[in-house]
Amino acid sequence: MELQTVTCRYKRGPRQECICHDDVYAVSSLENDLMKILGRVKVGQPGAVERGTRQMKPVTCGKRRQLVNNIANAAETVPHFILHIVFASTSGHTEYVVDALTNSLKSIAPGWEIEATIAEKTQPQDLLSGDVLLLASSTWNTGGIEGQLNPHMWVLLHDKAKSLDLTGKPCACIGLGDHRYFYTARAADHLQHYVKAHHGRLIVPALKIIDEPYGQEEAVGVWGKQLVDASKPVDWS
Ligand SMILES: Cc1cc2nc3c(=O)[nH]c(=O)nc-3n(C[C@H](O)[C@H](O)[C@H](O)COP(=O)(O)O)c2cc1C
Repeated sequence: MELQTVTCRYKRGPRQECICHDDVYAVSSLENDLMKILGRVKVGQPGAVERGTRQMKPVTCGKRRQLVNNIANAAETVPHFILHIVFASTSGHTEYVVDALTNSLKSIAPGWEIEATIAEKTQPQDLLSGDVLLLASSTWNTGGIEGQLNPHMWVLLHDKAKSLDLTGKPCACIGLGDHRYFYTARAADHLQHYVKAHHGRLIVPALKIIDEPYGQEEAVGVWGKQLVDASKPVDWS
């Protein structure tokens, strides 16, 4: 058996940090997806994955250290897929949607690493990090005019990052709003306009969440699935 075809569980957060324990491993095929965990197996018991197959093979205790080293090396060479979310939220609704999406993506796309940062702490170059950029903002009456971006998102996009070049960058947008306003959830349109004007690539239609997001988790999850499907490079041509 080739040892590098067995991996252990990685936690999200600090990138590629291995948290394998002495006697318990999760197994996956590194050839296909490092982060796609197929199950857990005790060392010495059937359960490892052999190269090119999904058959279970035993892992012996004596090879454990070498196994861990190979895992660490493999982790360094296999890139993660990173979704970078930049959001602005005033009363917490947009943040709630970002959390709901993140929770949903944990099961839909377990190999994804998700980084979420608030607009006020984001620098223009941060918008270029990750494989896909997701912008999320509620709609406000910034400057006394309804149908505007959250002020923090406005400052980021139209002041700090007004000259940023997003050429080719896969992007997606979420906008929140309230049906009682004439320009309902128009933040989504503003975000998409920014992406297009800066030559980014919108890979899915924007998600609009109207009124309180509580109870709308399913819609968020359905959109998350579309995002995952659209994030496959083959769809970007
Ligand atoms: C002062 C103010 C202005 C708002 N203006 C709009 C608006 O123009 N259009 C809209 O659809 N929603 C508007 N909303 C509703 C918010 O976008 C909505 O409540 C959203 O869920 C808030 O999300 P947040 O807590 O993440 O900021 C406004 C809310 C407030 C308090």
